[in-house]
Amino acid sequence: MKHPVADIEFERQGPIRKLVKTCLINPLANYTPAPIMRAVLRFGKSELAAANWSDPGGWRSMVISYEGNPRQIADKLLVNGGTMSMALRNRKRLGSRVLADLIDATGDHCAHVLCLGAGPGNIIIDAMLAADTQSEATLVDLSSDAFEHGLARAAKCNLSDRVRYIQSDVRDIKPLLEYPPDIVKMLGICEYLSDEQITEIASAVAEVMPPHASIVFNSISKAHGNDRFFRRVFGLHMIHRTPHQLQDLMASAGFGEFSATAEPLGVYHVIVGRRGDNHPAATATKES
Ligand SMILES: C[S@@+](CC[C@H](N)C(=O)[O-])C[C@H]1O[C@@H](n2cnc3c(N)ncnc32)[C@H](O)[C@@H]1O
Repeated sequence: MKHPVADIEFERQGPIRKLVKTCLINPLANYTPAPIMRAVLRFGKSELAAANWSDPGGWRSMVISYEGNPRQIADKLLVNGGTMSMALRNRKRLGSRVLADLIDATGDHCAHVLCLGAGPGNIIIDAMLAADTQSEATLVDLSSDAFEHGLARAAKCNLSDRVRYIQSDVRDIKPLLEYPPDIVKMLGICEYLSDEQITEIASAVAEVMPPHASIVFNSISKAHGNDRFFRRVFGLHMIHRTPHQLQDLMASAGFGEFSATAEPLGVYHVIVGRRGDNHPAATATKES
């Protein structure tokens, strides 16, 4: 690997911090009545809570966690000390490193990365900046205001002419595939999709990807310890799956040769799969 994962500066937590969270903070957050928790967050003017209330799992709450410098005290506790926010920043670092390597591995042509549920595109922009090979990205998201934020960052990084944003539901991906991707990125999206939707999307992209092209996605475990809090207080309903469960879904869409890397808090694995030679669409093309 060109940029080894071993030198990524991950956020970690020691045994005492972990114990205090498991025995005290998480039970308090998970089992205090939700109206009380919501009132406390409203009183504390939490921007993280407000972002989740207006768009649960949306890009704004993600960016607040990524930036890691919120203004309000309630957010400082959640963003700097919360396992989920730390794990999100770890996933961003790991995901962008993995993508930079995959871009470099595509050779010397300009790699096309298709980013599904991309938000503003922070991960792919980091990857494009880190890669030695030129690349371009198509970013698909439901939310057009994510694009304003993303375009401003792309402009600062001199990448405006290499990113294009498309407002669409990733469940309607087929019409957007006339420009085949070398790499598909599905980070931060599978936890909001059903098994059927993941398989359908992965099958549609596999049909147009070259053999051995990569798909990058993540699993999420309940190791963050706050699922009950997220569901009751933030209205955030994530589908937790193991790396194997996701790999099985991707395998049924024609991907294989999976390799999964965990971030150190054990919440996320970033997984790379390769499109197989024997995808049904490729077989049909060969036979016709
Ligand atoms: C948690 S954010 C992740 C953003 C980015 N992928 C990242 O990891 O930094 C999830 C994003 O997926 C988008 N999203 C959720 N469901 C979607 C769908 N069906 N089609 C397109 N975008 C979707 C949301 O608008 C949001 O921007």
